[in-house]
Amino acid sequence: MEDYKLLIDLHKGANRQGPGGDAETEKAINLAMLDRTAPLKIADIGSGTGASTILLARLLNARITAVDFLQEFLEVLEGRAKNIGLSEKITTLVCSMDNLPFGDEEYDVIWSEGAIYNIGFEKGVMDWNRYLKIGGLLVVSEITWITASRPSELQNYWAGEYPEIDVASSKINILEKNGFSPIGYFVLPEHCWLDNYYRPMQNNFKNFLNRNGNSEGARTIVEAENREIELYEKYKNHYSYGVYIARKLG
Ligand SMILES: C[S@@+](CC[C@H](N)C(=O)[O-])C[C@H]1O[C@@H](n2cnc3c(N)ncnc32)[C@H](O)[C@@H]1O
Repeated sequence: MEDYKLLIDLHKGANRQGPGGDAETEKAINLAMLDRTAPLKIADIGSGTGASTILLARLLNARITAVDFLQEFLEVLEGRAKNIGLSEKITTLVCSMDNLPFGDEEYDVIWSEGAIYNIGFEKGVMDWNRYLKIGGLLVVSEITWITASRPSELQNYWAGEYPEIDVASSKINILEKNGFSPIGYFVLPEHCWLDNYYRPMQNNFKNFLNRNGNSEGARTIVEAENREIELYEKYKNHYSYGVYIARKLG
């Protein structure tokens, strides 16, 4: 729990907790061909402090359930939604993504940016399928190799962090095998990682360490983040987040 406290402290003041961007969220809305006027019921799973939730609420005529297992993130999301007058469109739910209380075919859209890896892409795709209406849309970003081979230093790092990392064709195959028809895919550009996520986090490291008395736990987190950033800067031509858009088949 101590680790979670530190991670919450590091991330909760940030606009987002993973790579992404408003323009890219809107691009996914467009690729999904979502009707901006139709009333939609959306679950945003692993919403964090709500970067995507807020944009979905702004752009769509939707009721959105923002799910995260960290209440502190959802409290920030609620504050943000209130400040811009979007509270009525957003409900928060503190819950683990592998134990969702949703009914079968309850949602028009399941959205999840930078979060499905917590239970694994294949498990998430299989489990979440039943919450979607037939014809409903799954929009999910997932760490993805964007080259066919890569240096062993990078391969070994991600084998430890997330062994399910793979090329887009494999991810698309998983969608096809689990009742979805893929209708779109794109790769998050570099600014989604550096400008929108890593740089703001790095700018916060000094204050984070001071706030936490330069504790060993805090230093370990900063070291791990710096290692991840260093690898991204060195090998960014080999991986990114892929954004996958798929329609549930009947
Ligand atoms: C990398 S962050 C992405 C957050 C947000 N979607 C964004 O793009 O800014 C992953 C999020 O998933 C949440 N999370 C991790 N494991 C979870 C679980 N088992 N159930 C629900 N949420 C979880 C974390 O608290 C965090 O907010």
